Amino acid sequence: MFQVLLALWIVPLIHTVLAQRVCPRPPAIPLATVDKNKQEYNLGEEILYSCNSGYVPHTGSRRYICPLSGKWPIITLRCIPKKCPYPGPLINGNIVGADFRYQGVLSFSCEPGYSLHGTNTSQCLADGQWSGKLPECQPVICPPPPISEFGALSYHRLKPGNISVFQDEIKFECLLPLALIGNETARCLASQNWSEIPECRKVKCPYPAEIENGFINFAVHRTYQYKDRVTYGCNPTYVLNGPAESTCEKTGDWSTKPSCKAPCKIPVNRATVLYNQQRAKVQDHLKGGIQHAETIWFFCKNKDQYCSYTVPAQCIDGNLTAPACFKERGWFSSLVKTDVADMTPCEN
Ligand SMILES: *[C@@H]1O[C@H](CO)[C@@H](O)[C@H](O)[C@H]1NC(C)=O
Ligand SMILES: *[C@@H]1O[C@H](CO)[C@@H](O)[C@H](O)[C@H]1NC(C)=O
Ligand SMILES: *[C@@H]1O[C@H](CO)[C@@H](O)[C@H](O)[C@H]1NC(C)=O
Ligand SMILES: *[C@@H]1O[C@H](CO)[C@@H](O)[C@H](O)[C@H]1NC(C)=O
Ligand SMILES: *[C@@H]1O[C@H](CO)[C@@H](O)[C@H](O)[C@H]1NC(C)=O
Repeated sequence: MFQVLLALWIVPLIHTVLAQRVCPRPPAIPLATVDKNKQEYNLGEEILYSCNSGYVPHTGSRRYICPLSGKWPIITLRCIPKKCPYPGPLINGNIVGADFRYQGVLSFSCEPGYSLHGTNTSQCLADGQWSGKLPECQPVICPPPPISEFGALSYHRLKPGNISVFQDEIKFECLLPLALIGNETARCLASQNWSEIPECRKVKCPYPAEIENGFINFAVHRTYQYKDRVTYGCNPTYVLNGPAESTCEKTGDWSTKPSCKAPCKIPVNRATVLYNQQRAKVQDHLKGGIQHAETIWFFCKNKDQYCSYTVPAQCIDGNLTAPACFKERGWFSSLVKTDVADMTPCEN
């Protein structure tokens, strides 16, 4: 009875030991597959794990052999997703998304004024490449500005070429005598519109203003229009100050007109002075005075060192003041005393 029992116990045991002389199906590893798909593996049989498409081995071994024990060793292989390279840069656009791994998706957008040409998303494929081609951000195009072909307003592009794209500028002109009112340049906006279209208007200026001690050359009473000009002159001995020409502006006003500056009388009766770097006697040569902006130099005396020095005095619109150090001599003293202008010049 016991032997029977023993036999009943041992036979399956032996059978089990013999049956264990194979390896079972190896364990499943995430993201990987085994080359042979079987129920059992012979001792010494080699198996090879491969990472699934889109994944690559990261750590561990791919190759295992069914050992005598019939138990597979610990499978160390770990697979990770492949990485696609940075697909950019996308000029004038943005690449949105940070997942560059297999199956990651990026989307593309363009900055204002640029439109996307190509695909707006891309996926990292199993071969480690992005799907599709990198799109391009191309500037938007503005249609020609809405102006009539034979009107007074015309324009030209500030850049060569047939078309105007985002940020390009065009410059407008009006047929004279019409004046351009508004901004003479317009820019192609992101909205595919021009920033501003000016207009051409008729502009009249009033009869130009007279100036004191001067006159308008060839003045006629007529209608003055945009860009008409007049020139001014001054009466004899007066000097023109400012631009000789005044222009009718698009505001309907004349540009700044000049003025006539008065000559100066020399405020002394008798003196020797320097004028145009030459000695001149006021009573003989400068009775008519000097013109606006001209300068004469008076001689003054340094009493301590008994020498002379010069001080300039400029004529400013009829106003000329002799320097305080200048002393005019009376008729009598001019006979008996040395003129300061004849004294030795001071050292400095
Ligand atoms: C991509 O374009 C499609 C149409 O072509 C649109 O439906 C989708 O919203 C766009 N996606 C993005 C992120 O712009
Ligand atoms: C401009 O347009 C004309 C005809 O419309 C075309 O023949 C020419 O090639 C274009 N030039 C450029 C630079 O696009
Ligand atoms: C005229 O338009 C241009 C754009 O084309 C802009 O830069 C400029 O500031 C404008 N000028 C004036 C006076 O508005
Ligand atoms: C473009 O300009 C036209 C006329 O100036 C205007 O009617 C239209 O609304 C503008 N469009 C955009 C998108 O700004
Ligand atoms: C003349 O010049 C003096 C001194 O520089 C000044 O005080 C005076 O106001 C001026 N007069 C005129 C009419 O410019």
